Amino acid sequence: MILDLGCGSGWLTLGLTLANPGARVIGIDISPQSIKWAKNRLNYHGYSEAEFYVMPFEEIPKLNIRFDFIHCSDVLYLLPDPLEALKVMRSLLAQDGIIQGNLHSIYQRHYFYQGQQLCKYLGLMDTAPTDMEFSLIRELMNSLDDRILLKDKTWNSNPTDSFLSANHLLHEDKGYTIPEMFQMLAEADLEFISMTNWNQWNIRDLYKDRNNPSEYLDMIWEAASIEEKLHIFELLNPVHRLLDFWCCHLGMVEPRIPISEWQDNDWGNSRIYLHPQLKHPKIRESLDQAIALYAPFNIHVFLNINSAQSISLYTISCACLHLLWERPLTLSELAKAWQTIKPVNWLTKAVISAQDALTEIKEAVIEMEFLMLVLVEKSD
Ligand SMILES: C[S@@+](CC[C@H](N)C(=O)[O-])C[C@H]1O[C@@H](n2cnc3c(N)ncnc32)[C@H](O)[C@@H]1O
Repeated sequence: MILDLGCGSGWLTLGLTLANPGARVIGIDISPQSIKWAKNRLNYHGYSEAEFYVMPFEEIPKLNIRFDFIHCSDVLYLLPDPLEALKVMRSLLAQDGIIQGNLHSIYQRHYFYQGQQLCKYLGLMDTAPTDMEFSLIRELMNSLDDRILLKDKTWNSNPTDSFLSANHLLHEDKGYTIPEMFQMLAEADLEFISMTNWNQWNIRDLYKDRNNPSEYLDMIWEAASIEEKLHIFELLNPVHRLLDFWCCHLGMVEPRIPISEWQDNDWGNSRIYLHPQLKHPKIRESLDQAIALYAPFNIHVFLNINSAQSISLYTISCACLHLLWERPLTLSELAKAWQTIKPVNWLTKAVISAQDALTEIKEAVIEMEFLMLVLVEKSD
């Protein structure tokens, strides 16, 4: 059972439906127009069984359903009382369920909040934005010198109406810090699991040389709690618009050992899945082409990633994605297949042993899991 709370026009409800075949997906939103669009969207893509309801979040308990996953994206920071919404979500959550929510970062959006203050002060936010407000703010900003701080930080040459409604003219928009987010979760009796984009909160990425960190900060970092680490990161480099988190019922977080530290018995029958959102015919076409030409597969062109770096996959990773396309496999199944694909070391011509193949495949899987290209399900 999946709930998309505040589903809007349903583009993420569609993603949830596509990524979870067979699951019952319910979208709710307070706006009848949004629900109409969401229904049309899901129908258009052939998912007429998705259920939608027009209702405020306070009324969801009336549905009398427990959810395994509650998704609530770009909603909490618009609510007068996000804590109330988190409490309602907790009451709807199955015992081993997970909530994904997010708040706007006050540091990342600092200049937009300043812009909103200005718009309020100038009377541009007395009502929902219309053509008049859009044209007035455009006229004002375009008249300013490009060096004016607010313009420099918030304006682009041709902002669309939807950019303006989602930023300068966004009503009820509020920003939060990491400590405020943790406090809210604690008050809602929810336990933080992780940031959803956890691999983009690594302080090592902020150094000129990741192997040469500040000794002072490294010492503090080593002793810091997860909340403190995330707070230091947001103070240093507030690049994430959203503080996007997973949380669950108290006491349900299982300590997670990164797969890079797994022992052989951890891998055992653990299954490796291709990330379901990669299963797109265009990605497959490009992957097949790279394999046929022995060329790197530039997968970053298909990913919505917050990084200037390109991601190219080489033979072994391409082979893994290809093998995982049809069904999930264990590490040893992948290694066996890899041994058939590459039976000898291309440099020394020595035969590749089962152990060598396993080591090579393990390294590739660890890297691809870090990039979220594959998901690894631990066997019990
Ligand atoms: C910024 S949109 C996000 C839509 C969607 N989750 C997404 O990420 O595209 C916020 C949505 O929250 C809905 N919303 C606001 N207050 C609500 C409430 N009290 N109960 C349910 N939905 C609400 C709005 O109608 C709107 O569709």
